[in-house]
Amino acid sequence: MAEQQRVSIHGQWSGRMAFILAATGSAVGLGNIWKFPYITGEHGGGAFVMVYLLCIAAIGIPIMMAEVLLGRRGRQSPINTMATLSAEEGRSPVWKYLGWLGVAAGFLILSYYSVIAGWALSYVFRTASGIFTGADAEAVNKVFTELVSDPERLLAWHTLFMIATMVVVARGVQNGLEKAVRYLMPALFLLLAVLMIYAMSNGHFMEGVEFLFRPDFSKIDANAILIAMGHAFFTLSLGMGAIMVYGSYLPKDTSIAKTSIIIAAADTLVALMAGMVIFPIVFAHGLEPGAGPGLIFKTLPLAFGQMDAGILVGVLFFILLTFAAWSSSISLIEPAVAWLVENRGHTRVYASTVMGFATWAVGLGTVFSFNIASDIKLFDKTFFDLLDYLTANIMLPLGGLFIALFAGWLMAKQSTEDELNSSKRGYNIWRFLVRYITPIAVMMVFLNVIGVIRF
Ligand code: PFF
Repeated sequence: MAEQQRVSIHGQWSGRMAFILAATGSAVGLGNIWKFPYITGEHGGGAFVMVYLLCIAAIGIPIMMAEVLLGRRGRQSPINTMATLSAEEGRSPVWKYLGWLGVAAGFLILSYYSVIAGWALSYVFRTASGIFTGADAEAVNKVFTELVSDPERLLAWHTLFMIATMVVVARGVQNGLEKAVRYLMPALFLLLAVLMIYAMSNGHFMEGVEFLFRPDFSKIDANAILIAMGHAFFTLSLGMGAIMVYGSYLPKDTSIAKTSIIIAAADTLVALMAGMVIFPIVFAHGLEPGAGPGLIFKTLPLAFGQMDAGILVGVLFFILLTFAAWSSSISLIEPAVAWLVENRGHTRVYASTVMGFATWAVGLGTVFSFNIASDIKLFDKTFFDLLDYLTANIMLPLGGLFIALFAGWLMAKQSTEDELNSSKRGYNIWRFLVRYITPIAVMMVFLNVIGVIRF
């Protein structure tokens, strides 16, 4: 069969571990440490977390397997992979637009992701200056407000981060990135563990844990369920082809099921640990869990300001957070760059420069939405809020829905069975999930928000 010989023109991972590291590098990012705590705080904690965990298990893991499977079978950028596979399976060529939806989502997400990563980067220097040592909540809050209300500073950090991202993308994802992630991910994990110990002894730990894990379903509504589901996609980098494109560099003999479960588990663990660090600090200082996108920047510095060696721990933390954001950013733009190289014959350097510049320009909208344009709202949302809502809660689940439908209903059973190459039972569970559970769940959540059905 032709696909047996197909190889990616962009190269291949050195092995299973390299793929796990790169995909974990994509999954673990601002979503886990910045976004998960603040949206959990905004939606009342436990019940929201439960919906999120359920979405990871029942929707996220099966879709991750589907994406890796499609990528490895197609061995090209998501757009061309979808075009090739739909032709191979005798389906309509419109499926390649699924690849386009993903490219658009990745591009839009990166435009604001880079701005937030800029905050993390700037906090490396703020923490290093000793400004947080002994600071109270008010002083810490002021540092954050001053940062986001200054468009020039935000612009500078956004620009710096975007350049750093495009330099790595230009060099190709397998060079360098693989090596960096190997050390930085475990280091981030270790540091979170250290912070958790701090939170246990100095924060209101049990109150934080209760907030995270005791469900109170009266606190969530249809919209919160959509946000929890959208976040499951966002945090696992699903629904837009990032994992698909990484899957296209995956050696043939690797187990897709096992690797997907490992990646999802690592990602979830990091998010829950971040929650267990942040909420005990929130409650110990009488802060507001629903403080919004500034939550970690208003809470963690309080801890750094009080602990021994707080400057060192804080600087290290923000460096690692910046790296985690970096390895995610790269995967956001990789589907677009891979396509430009494949179809337009551009060099990686040229493709990265053009895409980087365009993304940077759209990012200006987010930069200004925190200051000079904070009053400009559509549907009661700023530019940043709107972009975040549209991409994470609508585009990614929609992409995921179509991926599930394609893998579950339109591909021949033989094709998916060959590619997954797992036990009969494992395969059947996966197939049931992508055919029924995932599409029905996504559609129900959508319809419920639109108000067509209510449950
Ligand atoms: N998963 C990343 C995070 O949690 O920060 C964000 C992300 C990366 C989303 C890549 C989508 C994506 F394709």
